[in-house]
Amino acid sequence: MVVEAPSYGVAVEVARSTGAEVSLWKRRYEDGWAHDLAELERLLRPDTKLVYINSPHNPTGTPMAPATYERLLDIVREHALVLFSDEVYRGLEHDPGERLPAACDLREERPGALVARVDEHL
Ligand SMILES: Cc1ncc(COP(=O)(O)O)c(C=O)c1O
Repeated sequence: MVVEAPSYGVAVEVARSTGAEVSLWKRRYEDGWAHDLAELERLLRPDTKLVYINSPHNPTGTPMAPATYERLLDIVREHALVLFSDEVYRGLEHDPGERLPAACDLREERPGALVARVDEHL
């Protein structure tokens, strides 16, 4: 599995608790918490099954840029991965214009991508 980092700590621990090998897709303060998609692709292995993302993001509060999200969904489809899209803070964006489409709502557009979702419930 690939898990975005830093993250809500439980995300990594739950992933590891399954016995899976977990690679961290690291975002860095120095880069403005950018999502490095080339780095994500480097982390993908032939046996990678799942990618976990979280937007809006805990702990940085940053939303994923729409173009990044689009490309990420394409990568997920191309590699036939499960996307675990933790959207627990969806709806709490400071700017509603930054709200991304819920991943599960895009499933029909990208039939190759399996998408899971954490419902917003705050
Ligand atoms: C990113 C993220 N996902 C999931 C959760 C889990 O939320 P809950 O335990 O309320 O279901 C939290 C809680 O802080 C969170 O920050």
